[in-house]
Amino acid sequence: MTRNSFYRASRPLLGPSRTPILPNTILPSRCRRAYSIQSQEEDLARLPDIDPKALSITKTTTPKLIVPPEELIFGRNFTDHMLTIEWTASQGWLAPRITPYQNFSLDPATCVFHYGFECFEGMKAYKNSEGQVRLFRPDKNMARFNKSSTRIALPSFSGAALIELISKFCAMEERFVPAGKGYSLYLRPTMIGTQRTLGVGPPGSALLFLIASPVGPYYPTGFKAVSLEATDYAVRAWPGGVGNMKLGANYAPCIAPQLQAAKRGFHQNLWLFGEEEYVTEVGTMNLFAAIRDKETGKKVLMTAPLDGTILEGVIRDSVLDLARERLAPEGWEVSERKFTMKELADAADDGRMLEIFGTGTAAVVSPVRRIGWKGRLVECGLREDQEVGEITKRMKDWIEGIQCGDEEHPWSIEV
Ligand SMILES: Cc1ncc(COP(=O)(O)O)c(C=O)c1O
Repeated sequence: MTRNSFYRASRPLLGPSRTPILPNTILPSRCRRAYSIQSQEEDLARLPDIDPKALSITKTTTPKLIVPPEELIFGRNFTDHMLTIEWTASQGWLAPRITPYQNFSLDPATCVFHYGFECFEGMKAYKNSEGQVRLFRPDKNMARFNKSSTRIALPSFSGAALIELISKFCAMEERFVPAGKGYSLYLRPTMIGTQRTLGVGPPGSALLFLIASPVGPYYPTGFKAVSLEATDYAVRAWPGGVGNMKLGANYAPCIAPQLQAAKRGFHQNLWLFGEEEYVTEVGTMNLFAAIRDKETGKKVLMTAPLDGTILEGVIRDSVLDLARERLAPEGWEVSERKFTMKELADAADDGRMLEIFGTGTAAVVSPVRRIGWKGRLVECGLREDQEVGEITKRMKDWIEGIQCGDEEHPWSIEV
């Protein structure tokens, strides 16, 4: 049986596109049996990695119209093309392909639909004033992507090779990268298990794909400070769990508590953990609090430590680095430590609360006005007429300046 005839024989058609998306995939008989973790580990070390030199490109014959930047809605519009790279347990990573953006056709028994074999990344390409396209710390996204994929028994890959392909893809889709502060091309690298089986085991085949969506500023009319509800009846992540991975399975269970918070008039929910009510993350962002220390009176910028329950945010790491470099000399203490909701409430009551903000690739920073907790509202240091605190604004300006290349910095990489 040839590769393609096997594929056709095993593939019922799904969805409007009848184009075979995975024509390379051979599923050897071994892959269709349960595939042991030990033999997978042994084989993986010997298999071919992603090879950017093997890239094939098929250009679209129906280029899309560019949506005016002011009409962009997050995640609604996509570029002309997509990148796909298939993997099988016997052949390793196959030749990467850039093709016109199109539907997948997958068997209903494909393991991603049943057991959640899916992980992803969120990163962006920015255009500077000279029209150069840049990536921001893509090595961080690649390291996290590999951590996520291997945690769910999907393959690892060379981060440098994928960055090379992402760079080629971005250069090719350059006309979709909007210019200007706050505008970017959102990149969504994703990996799924594609083995057709209801057996629970390590997938014998996988697909890594990249799609991209032009996006505008998170706050098109300027900052809007958000109100949070501290969620005490559900947890996002727990010690020994997978909250520090970017698995699709971590996200769906967060929506119902967010809807509950919205019903009570809050923009987002704040995830607490344990009887102590440790403050962990906000919605899908890391959280920073700036307060004056009760004993020393010193200004402290703090965020929860990476104890396995916190996503290792690229912006979180960047804020910490910049704070250590630029705020510490001004007398700030920068701290990765556990802190509780009561500590924040006490700081607000004592007049020691300075500001609170979320961090993430989508918004860079998101200022917080107040937090609903145990039937009271904890004010987070903003005056009624103020939408953003001083540190939050300085962090946004520093990071955006680096992202779009206004400030020369090793974090910003030209594609
Ligand atoms: C749960 C969670 N925390 C934090 C972040 C922020 O991570 P980053 O700064 O890498 O975008 C994200 C967004 O990806 C997230 O989903």
